[in-house]
Amino acid sequence: MQLTDPAVADYLEERLDPHDEILDEMEAYARETKFPIVGRQMGRLMALLAQAAKVRTVFEMGSGYGYSALWFARALPEKGKIICSEGDPDNVERARQYLDRADVIHKAQLRVGDAIEILAGSSGPFDLIFIDIGKKDYPRARSGWRFQDEASSLIFSRQRHPGRPHPGPAEPKPDARGIRGSRA
Ligand SMILES: C[S@@+](CC[C@H](N)C(=O)[O-])C[C@H]1O[C@@H](n2cnc3c(N)ncnc32)[C@H](O)[C@@H]1O
Repeated sequence: MQLTDPAVADYLEERLDPHDEILDEMEAYARETKFPIVGRQMGRLMALLAQAAKVRTVFEMGSGYGYSALWFARALPEKGKIICSEGDPDNVERARQYLDRADVIHKAQLRVGDAIEILAGSSGPFDLIFIDIGKKDYPRARSGWRFQDEASSLIFSRQRHPGRPHPGPAEPKPDARGIRGSRA
């Protein structure tokens, strides 16, 4: 997700972390496959927030192949933990390889299956729950969180639905309906 003008973003990226081989590779893979990762600006922002809030435990719903998880894992303290949940086993295997290469695999537990069910079966509490599954599942995800731990912070990713969740059609598409239904 692009938060600032692309030219300004390029300038800042060049100065902030110009040579991050693994992030570069993961981003190239996202471009090739059109896979919707959070992107570098959002990744950095989430990592900053996690560090500022002294987050030690993260539950991630919809980890894909580990890009957002890598940002969180790097932001966590050495004994911190991120539980990654993802429905596609190929993505999970890819995440395992990337997180291993980045030397943060010891902070990660990778789980394959429905993220909402995995969360329901996990013992928290989690300092942060990051929700980035199919948007139509957001209301279900939100109610799963209610049973989990009212004290957690939640980040919902909107990805292709920035700003207002729907432009106002009489019958919004399932993803937009899901985002609307996840609001408190
Ligand atoms: C937007 S991508 C995640 C991107 C990732 N958070 C990142 O930024 O690197 C959404 C992922 O959620 C997975 N997914 C969708 N619905 C799911 C569900 N109910 N349970 C687990 N995974 C799900 C998809 O397979 C996909 O990999």
